[in-house]
Amino acid sequence: MAKRPFVAGNWKMHGTRAELGNITHVSIETETIDEVLVALCVPATLITRAVAASPGFLIGAQDIHHEPKGAFTGSVSAQMVKDAGAKLTIVGHSERRELLGETNAQVRAKAELAIDAGLKTILCVGESLAVRETGQALNFVGDQLDASLPDMVTAPIHLSIAYEPIWAIGTGKVPSAGDIEAMHARIREVLERRYGEGAASIRILYGGSVKGSNAADIFAIDGVDGALVGGASLAPDDFMPIVHAAAAAAKD
Ligand code: 13P
Repeated sequence: MAKRPFVAGNWKMHGTRAELGNITHVSIETETIDEVLVALCVPATLITRAVAASPGFLIGAQDIHHEPKGAFTGSVSAQMVKDAGAKLTIVGHSERRELLGETNAQVRAKAELAIDAGLKTILCVGESLAVRETGQALNFVGDQLDASLPDMVTAPIHLSIAYEPIWAIGTGKVPSAGDIEAMHARIREVLERRYGEGAASIRILYGGSVKGSNAADIFAIDGVDGALVGGASLAPDDFMPIVHAAAAAAKD
């Protein structure tokens, strides 16, 4: 792996105070694993407690609103999650795009607000099974990314892209190595066209049914710089093997 790998967990709508110990566990175990950047994106309600319990460990949010502030009942802003102690946020997750109808323009606004707030940002893209079956996945994701990327002349610092095919999320299905490689290459092309040479610093993560059992194979694919992990990030016994696989890939 050319870059220091980044393995981020996305807890989705799981986790209360009772699970804080899982975060501390991962934070302690990863302290000595310098080869990998590790983060956990927890529910907004847990951010402050997680940061207090594991100072120095990278805690992230899972979403922010596309406006900086205002009358948006129930939403949280980039500045709010930063104030709570998050150093990172996910934007554009397919569960929000698909279930809540979030648009590329909103995702772009979120990414811009997150970057302005100094948050590391993981911007998610990915195609549905229907799109994959039409053979248009590369074009679909390329266009989706192009329309979701922050409008900046130089490459945004601390931006990562997560390629998460919707049909691979929580299903145990993973695209072939060739399909992942081709998609990451397409994403890299779009990044280079938009940001020039600076795009080289942007990591491209894979997400969708990443487990300890398939992580090494996924990290061996050209163009994969890490993973965004859902279900297997909830328990340290499932998550740590993925981090170790990334560490091993970093040494190759
Ligand atoms: P799973 O790892 O549970 O498939 O979820 C992937 C995901 O959506 C991470 O954001």
